[in-house]
Amino acid sequence: MTFKASVITLYPEMFPGPLGVSLAGNALDRGDWQLDVIALRDFGEGKHKRVDDTPAGGGAGMVLKPDVLAHAIDSLGTDERPRLLMSPRGKPLTQARVRDLACGQGAIIICGRFEGVDQRVIDARGLEEVSIGDYVLSGGEPAALVMLDAVVRLLPGVMGNEQSGEHESFESGLLEHPQFTRPNEWEGHKIPEVLTGGNHGKIAQWQREQAEKLTLERRPDLISGSSNQGTATAIMPALPVNDLRDGVTFYKDVLGFKCVYLDEGGYAVLQLDQVELHLWLANDDDWKTREKGKPIVSGAESFLAGTHSCRIEVDGVEALYERLKSSKFIHPNAKLEKKEWGSTEFGVLDPYGNLVIFFEWI
Ligand SMILES: C[S@@+](CC[C@H](N)C(=O)[O-])C[C@H]1O[C@@H](n2cnc3c(N)ncnc32)[C@H](O)[C@@H]1O
Repeated sequence: MTFKASVITLYPEMFPGPLGVSLAGNALDRGDWQLDVIALRDFGEGKHKRVDDTPAGGGAGMVLKPDVLAHAIDSLGTDERPRLLMSPRGKPLTQARVRDLACGQGAIIICGRFEGVDQRVIDARGLEEVSIGDYVLSGGEPAALVMLDAVVRLLPGVMGNEQSGEHESFESGLLEHPQFTRPNEWEGHKIPEVLTGGNHGKIAQWQREQAEKLTLERRPDLISGSSNQGTATAIMPALPVNDLRDGVTFYKDVLGFKCVYLDEGGYAVLQLDQVELHLWLANDDDWKTREKGKPIVSGAESFLAGTHSCRIEVDGVEALYERLKSSKFIHPNAKLEKKEWGSTEFGVLDPYGNLVIFFEWI
């Protein structure tokens, strides 16, 4: 289905504007996306086609009327497209949201003006407020153009080289590494040698290191997930196994994880919904010779313990237990049970003696 943007605005002449040239403009001409501009003024009231009124409770400026805006929105009929209101109060636009929009059918985009929009129409028509940054524009149109530019370039066929979108800033959670092109030497400055050496592994490593360095310097919040350095946001257990492939297979086939990273040299990253678990290859002599299923913590079989352990909160712990209870991996001393502290839980002993407790607060 072709991505369709319907923009409601008091200034239809501002569209397609910059979206009518270059990549977005060519794509529009080819029909790779559609733009439908709705003049809000057409829905205005009376001889002067009035669209706004003074703010309730007093104050400067004017507010867009709910009935007028609702008529404009309703004129588009009902469809599945998100209804986005450009607004400095909105959730900041991110590359992830842009990609999400590019995967959809399109969007209905409402451009505010004056002091903004009557709250009742925002609530009644389920408008999602989207901000393009912490500053105030005089209208939503430039914000809509910015957002659409970011979305349209990700639509299939719009960028000549599809790959060029994947390695850009924010796509990997990092800012992009510095770029260079010929001449090899300019005003006495040379292109970093690694980039002209032809070793693709080294080039990739250099680019990754540069991206991390730049991000740490300029946008540490992207790395920590928070502008407060040192704020803890997640915990990831790392469990030892003495056969990495075998371990990955167990966590995939028995517990339903998916493997998102596997380094045969000794490390794997697994995910189950929002949860991440790491496996590392314990290949010292003690581990090489030890039998599978024999935890190295003494007394582990007779009491509830494992080589290492972690606790994973899940929805539907009882259903998960039902699925796993006939497998040989339920810890004999950790069958499904409601604990005094309020959680219902059971434990799985993996083939390496690690204890994984699944729990739910029910
Ligand atoms: C002058 S602004 C209104 C600002 C509003 N009184 C406030 O303080 O939040 C007029 C319109 O510009 C648009 N706008 C302004 N800044 C924006 C931003 N950072 N992101 C998205 N839209 C913005 C919105 O559509 C808004 O309704």
